[in-house]
Amino acid sequence: MEIKITKTTNPKQKPADQSKLSFGKYYTDHMFIMNYDEGQGWHDPRIVPYAPFEIDPASMVLHYAQELFEGLKAYRTDDGSIQLFRPEKNMARMNVSCERLCIPKIDEEFAIEAIKTLVKVDEDWVPSLPETSLYIRPYIFANDVHIGVHPAKHLIFAIILSPVGAYYPNGIEPVKIFVEQKYVRAVIGGTGFTKAGANYAISLKGQEEAEAQGYIQTLWLDGIERKYIEEVGSMNVFFKIDGEIVTPSLEGSILSGITRMSIIELLKARGYKVSERRISIDELSEAYRNGKLEEAWGTGTAAVISPIGELKYGDLVMPVNNGEIGEVSQMLYDTLTGIQWGKLKDEFGWTVKIDK
Ligand SMILES: Cc1ncc(COP(=O)(O)O)c(C=O)c1O
Repeated sequence: MEIKITKTTNPKQKPADQSKLSFGKYYTDHMFIMNYDEGQGWHDPRIVPYAPFEIDPASMVLHYAQELFEGLKAYRTDDGSIQLFRPEKNMARMNVSCERLCIPKIDEEFAIEAIKTLVKVDEDWVPSLPETSLYIRPYIFANDVHIGVHPAKHLIFAIILSPVGAYYPNGIEPVKIFVEQKYVRAVIGGTGFTKAGANYAISLKGQEEAEAQGYIQTLWLDGIERKYIEEVGSMNVFFKIDGEIVTPSLEGSILSGITRMSIIELLKARGYKVSERRISIDELSEAYRNGKLEEAWGTGTAAVISPIGELKYGDLVMPVNNGEIGEVSQMLYDTLTGIQWGKLKDEFGWTVKIDK
């Protein structure tokens, strides 16, 4: 399929100060759109000026939330070129979400081509200040004009771009995380392993509570026993306990993070022992009490490596590594960002260049 490109005649003013981009505040001049109609499949891929959608008030997505998304980034390297980080993993995961949400799958290679073409069209929007990048948000939503619960027959696949700085206001500074005990985010058999927008709607209440208590995000426990650690609001989570690096195993209720996957590969390549296993909040609290909780950090495309400086579980407040950045977290941050921004050799073959 050929991507038809219509360029804007009215380009926007780009943010003047790249140090104040923050996250998700600005959007570029163009967007990608493709339609799905039953009988026709995915069709009419096009890049058009960024503009609001016109959708019917009865559009199914507004009522039943049949929607999913992805998130990845384009990075500006020192020689001015632009690269993506493992886009094939995001597109493969997008299809995993499609399958669970009864959304027709996309052609993964074509979707990567669409991302590359869009980034190329808006290449002047890729910031160059250290730690800034262009966040890429592909998403698909149901657009049948029908108030009835059934899998959509008409959908829209879109990609928008946003130049971003650090996800958390204080960059790599350790964050404070609240362990949620009242609400749950996902159960095995549900949609926790997908990037369904609905998962995030469900998580807002916990997030609100965490913020009210001065914490930046929620650490979710499993929805059945309320015992096993799952993930943070927008990050997977790792702990270093008595020398062992532990991350919750993928049991079907948490997102299989691309950063998580990369960090596991990186740690193993550096000779660390990494266990993907179930870890309970009691085990973690016990390790803290015994002085064995050495480090904790979150991983995610937006948050990169985010050291955790404090965890609160009920009345138990657990400072981690004196609220400072740990040795392993720092090494992971330096290596991952070094590869992403092209400052270090990409020994794993993770980056994908966008043609000049
Ligand atoms: C719930 C959740 N978990 C984990 C992650 C990390 O995934 P990734 O490393 O692919 O960005 C995200 C990222 O957006 C997320 O929303």
